[in-house]
Amino acid sequence: MEQYSLFEIEPKRAEDPVEIQDLRIFEGNLRVQVRSGYSAKQYPLFGVELEETEDLARGQEWGTFKDSLRAPIHNWFAYPAGFSYKAVEWSIRHNDLHSGQVIYDPFMGSGTTNLVAKKLAINSYGVEAHPFVFRVAKTKMNWEVDLDEVARALREIEGQVMGFRRGFSHTDLRAFLKEEFPELVLKCYNDSTLLELFFIRNAIMQSSLPEDVTDLLFVGLTSVLRQVSTAATGWPYIAPNKRKTTSLNKNALYEFSRQIRKMMSDIQAVIREAEPNFRESYHHIYRADARHTQHLIPNECVDHVFTSPPYLNNFDYADRTRLELYFWGEAQSWGDISRTVRTKLITSATTQISREDPRYNLSEDLLLACPDVFDFLKKAVTQLSAIRLTRGGRKSYDLLVAGYFNDMFQVIGEVYRVLKPNSKAVFVLGDSAPYGVYIPTDDLIGRIGLGVGFSDYRIDVLRERGGKWRGNPQRHNVSLRESIVTLTKAA
Ligand SMILES: C[S@@+](CC[C@H](N)C(=O)[O-])C[C@H]1O[C@@H](n2cnc3c(N)ncnc32)[C@H](O)[C@@H]1O
Repeated sequence: MEQYSLFEIEPKRAEDPVEIQDLRIFEGNLRVQVRSGYSAKQYPLFGVELEETEDLARGQEWGTFKDSLRAPIHNWFAYPAGFSYKAVEWSIRHNDLHSGQVIYDPFMGSGTTNLVAKKLAINSYGVEAHPFVFRVAKTKMNWEVDLDEVARALREIEGQVMGFRRGFSHTDLRAFLKEEFPELVLKCYNDSTLLELFFIRNAIMQSSLPEDVTDLLFVGLTSVLRQVSTAATGWPYIAPNKRKTTSLNKNALYEFSRQIRKMMSDIQAVIREAEPNFRESYHHIYRADARHTQHLIPNECVDHVFTSPPYLNNFDYADRTRLELYFWGEAQSWGDISRTVRTKLITSATTQISREDPRYNLSEDLLLACPDVFDFLKKAVTQLSAIRLTRGGRKSYDLLVAGYFNDMFQVIGEVYRVLKPNSKAVFVLGDSAPYGVYIPTDDLIGRIGLGVGFSDYRIDVLRERGGKWRGNPQRHNVSLRESIVTLTKAA
């Protein structure tokens, strides 16, 4: 028996499966034992020089939503996948983008890039495939909503909820709520709070208000859902059995009204702070798939791309919004969520994968455009398909890796198409190491960029991540990082 680190194993002939006999942590590193006779060879990791710019503040938490949680409008929805608005401002400054030019975010999420652009009177495009998240972004981008109408609607809803309260009588409140909500929602609230949330929800849904007013009320109620929950609903995980005592005395209608009033004053404040000509800028945002934007965004019309794609194996975006989707009745089950959300997103979590689906084989197009990336990924996929058989969970990380890069290849091709010559696309992203197999996502994305036509790429490391797992024997010890990958389209 011989022992190697994961990237050192290579079968004698490419077509032989790698047979892994055992996996263990050895002197802090994950080691594998393979059958004698396998040769050991270091994979050719691409070995790019990591660069540092003077004004790129290393160590910034730009890949996290922390700064945005303190900023008006940005903080209407605490999106765990969001990035800092400061990162967008930095990129706009750094790339000398000015009013009248166009920025595009193919993974718009809750709209951070577009929101910053609007404030600075820079035109924008945005694409987001998750229907619920898209609605949040669309609402945050609409500062033209009639605030008098919102104030009137709020008063009406307050009156209706009080009327519902007076008229409601039911001998078994729990049984009544069970008819309305899935188990997860029931577990997150005490009955009286959930009943109040139910009244507010119905008042919003039954109203015949203009669509943008309803959207604002929808986002307002959504943003108090986790605040008034008596379970630990902090992102990213919901722990229904853990009590959150700080929410026990919160009144849902009071919190909702307060949130709507805050949102109204946020809009006024942001308009005051925005560039005076922000109204002349346009913002085309679509609920669509960033892999297929040919019918939405013309060739070479964008001056800059700033985005953060889903990280490989980080979040199941559909699952992260489960509480919200269940509460609004947009999904009742895991199956509903898969159908309405998961199938529309790029592959980034094993929960999206069916082993029979041919989409999770590395694509021919990727092979033709980027043979070095294809070759690297093929080896990683082969290793992962062997390792998974040695693990209890047998997670389909092999197919996940293939599906992720197939999808990212398509998105990067589209980004290249829409960019004007002599411009840059910036990706904030993290790497990963499923089952300890290191996938240098930043480098691979850079290489894919070259394959689709970009002339150059560079990587700036923002911060090391994943430290919280160190010392946990169940987890790998590979150190991970969050980076900024900049692709340049030549003049
Ligand atoms: C890292 S998040 C971006 C968050 C965003 N920067 C923000 O501040 O809110 C990635 C987003 O990509 C979206 N997404 C996944 N697949 C997509 C696809 N095929 N087309 C467009 N958006 C997609 C996810 O729903 C998620 O909101």
